[in-house]
Amino acid sequence: MRVIVYTGKGGTGKTVTSCATAIGLAERGYRTLLISADPAHTISDALDIDIGHNTKTITSNLDAIEIDPLFEISKDYVDIISSISSSFIGKGVESSIAYEIAMLPGMTQLFSLIKIDEVIRKNNYEKIVLDMPASGEALKFLYFPKLMGSMGRRMTGFTNLFSGFAKMFQPMSGYSAYLDGFITQTDILRRLDNLFNILTNQTITSLRLVTNLNNFSVKNAKRALMSANLFGINVDLVIINKVDIKDEDKKIFLEKIKLNFFPLPCRQAIRMKEELQGIEMLRQHNYHIFGREDPSTIFFNEKVYSIEENNDTITLTFKIPFAKNSQLDIQKKSDELLITLEHDRGILANTVTLPFAAVTMNIDSSKIVNDQLVVILKR
Ligand SMILES: Nc1ncnc2c1ncn2[C@@H]1O[C@H](COP(=O)(O)OP(=O)(O)OP(=O)(O)O)[C@@H](O)[C@H]1O
Ligand SMILES: [Mg+2]
Repeated sequence: MRVIVYTGKGGTGKTVTSCATAIGLAERGYRTLLISADPAHTISDALDIDIGHNTKTITSNLDAIEIDPLFEISKDYVDIISSISSSFIGKGVESSIAYEIAMLPGMTQLFSLIKIDEVIRKNNYEKIVLDMPASGEALKFLYFPKLMGSMGRRMTGFTNLFSGFAKMFQPMSGYSAYLDGFITQTDILRRLDNLFNILTNQTITSLRLVTNLNNFSVKNAKRALMSANLFGINVDLVIINKVDIKDEDKKIFLEKIKLNFFPLPCRQAIRMKEELQGIEMLRQHNYHIFGREDPSTIFFNEKVYSIEENNDTITLTFKIPFAKNSQLDIQKKSDELLITLEHDRGILANTVTLPFAAVTMNIDSSKIVNDQLVVILKR
């Protein structure tokens, strides 16, 4: 099984690229499932087919599902939630409580994740393509299982994480005992653990970053790359979408973006004249990105960053282009390192996104060891 996850800043083309990849895979004969965990339900729009909340066959070999956490709660969990709630209130709870719960922080992610685990486990798909909401949200999705898993084992942490439930049940005593009931009945921790194991298995899952030719989406993708590295999720490709090179400046910018993601491979897809919609255009989009290659290839499997934390220092090790033969200047600005490389092909400004823990630190030293830049940050 292969799981391919697309993420990136809003509007960069995650949904069309997920749909295009899934179409490309199905056409190669793989039994493929396209999952949207985006509450905005945009794969129906991109495919121009109404999909709905259960898996639906789109073409031969291709099924799709748009997960709706609200639907999941009202279908499978309303009884559990009602029974837990009614233990407090002493009477049955109207179904509207499901809607209230769905609106609480963390809940949509949680129920989407449970559903993702279910569809992956229950069916025998060879390839699964996951369209995630914009990066910030998506990362929460991906790391939620880990946080939940590790915190859940310490009940106090778990109640914090379930801040939604916590708020609801705060006025009542014995809250954590009921939470315990919820956890046991839904088997939530095991399911989240299972999902996290799939996501961090580098031979199964690849995260792909979608960006456009602008600094905002590049910065967003770099943060996703750094976090993915921290969590042990393999990023195998950057897709620079909506490329529209009319002038020399754009061309230079495109090359700069590619160098900025070094050593990750980058693919590019042209901006089409019309809005990308329908199977035929999506098939073309897949061709622009992957040509005749199998889109489920693992295109890269190396750690881009290594981050070691020690009491009051963080040691970052990462590859930079032209490491051997360039003059380096490194400065730290809030959550970024700005690296200027002066080499025989010109000057390159490269940025490296730092973990949030490094924001208040300063550069202590930097050196190049075996083609890698090693930067020590100190509080
Ligand atoms: N290569 C392209 N050429 C032309 N139009 C494109 C291309 N890629 C994306 N689009 C268009 O850009 C818009 C945004 O694309 P899409 O919905 O895939 O982005 P997204 O990253 O999923 O956005 P969101 O964050 O809102 O989920 C859509 O209207 C889509 O048709
Ligand atoms: Mg989308």
